[in-house]
Amino acid sequence: MYTQAMDTMGKDGGPKAVRSAEDHQLEQRFDARIEAGEFVEPKDWMPDHYRKTLVRQISQHAHSEIVGMLPEGNWITRAPTLKRKAILLAKVQDEGGHGLYLYSAAETLGTSRDQMLEALHAGKAKYSSIFNYPTLTWADVGVIGWLVDGAAIMNQVPICRCSYGPYARAMIRICREESFHQRQGFESLLTMMEKGTDAQRAMVQDAVDRWWWPSIMMFGPPDDQSPNSALSMKWGIKRVSNDELRQRFIDATAEQAKVLGVTLPDPELKWNEERQHYDFGKIDWDEFWRVIAGHGPCNQERLAARVKAWDDGEWVREAALAYARKQELQQQAA
Ligand code: 3HC
Repeated sequence: MYTQAMDTMGKDGGPKAVRSAEDHQLEQRFDARIEAGEFVEPKDWMPDHYRKTLVRQISQHAHSEIVGMLPEGNWITRAPTLKRKAILLAKVQDEGGHGLYLYSAAETLGTSRDQMLEALHAGKAKYSSIFNYPTLTWADVGVIGWLVDGAAIMNQVPICRCSYGPYARAMIRICREESFHQRQGFESLLTMMEKGTDAQRAMVQDAVDRWWWPSIMMFGPPDDQSPNSALSMKWGIKRVSNDELRQRFIDATAEQAKVLGVTLPDPELKWNEERQHYDFGKIDWDEFWRVIAGHGPCNQERLAARVKAWDDGEWVREAALAYARKQELQQQAA
């Protein structure tokens, strides 16, 4: 299906010209439904390019959730207290669950989970750039909650109104859980900042320094360099643009940083009375494109960990299938 969907693209990567009067009518009806704010459901007619765009985005999102388990999973055995360990375990488990809802949503579009995972393992499918950075200290876990999950919520709340029903519905539960993730990260950092030692406060500031810029890159390239935005906005897959979400995130986070007592590592970050927004410094887009092309600090490590998990789990998948076959035979015999 992945490949089939790709075949429906024009040479320039855009949708092919409408083929017949019937197609034209279907497309007009589809556009009118989107315009009216109706949800599109799996069995409804949809343009091939709409289907392909959704599979691309939802699978990228699902992969981000399961690859995102790795940097934090790295700290489960080293959490400083039982309470923090229990919270982190629950959070990492939630991310696994988010991946599963999202793979299921993408499967309703006709692409199997195996196909999506094959694309990930072959390095053909993307996952969020943010998870290619290392988690060096315990403070990184708190900063991931505050900044990374905070950016994820900012991006994902509008997806609860995405035009594709299964994706929109999956996002409602995901956003509730992400909101808890963001708050636990903030609370963990606040505890270190208010009750910790000077060394702990310095550790928090160091983590903020390392994660700030990658977090604001999570929203994707600037609008004028985002090849998918125009159609995704037209079809109601994306409701708010990359740049607008980034600005909203910066405005909210700059205020939260004051409460925490940390400095965001951007000397140009300044409230602009006229714009009623924070101005911010130049983002290193070369770094962003390098990371998504596979050359970030941890790309190889992350992909190798996912491939190993898949290979090591083969016997589990085989056993589950054998059990299902046995149950089916028993039911047929009964
Ligand atoms: N990391 C990796 N790739 C990225 C990226 C990022 N931060 N931002 C953009 N890209 C890629 C796009 O996928 C696209 O490549 P493709 O055409 O090969 O797929 C290319 O860069 C150009 O970007 P566009 O702006 O044109 O792409 P989109 O319109 O798809 O917008 C997006 C990018 C805003 C990330 C959008 O895909 C989106 O909203 N996705 C759903 C949310 C999501 O994926 N979140 C992952 C965050 S982490 C997470 O959720 C885990 C949680 O536990 C923290």
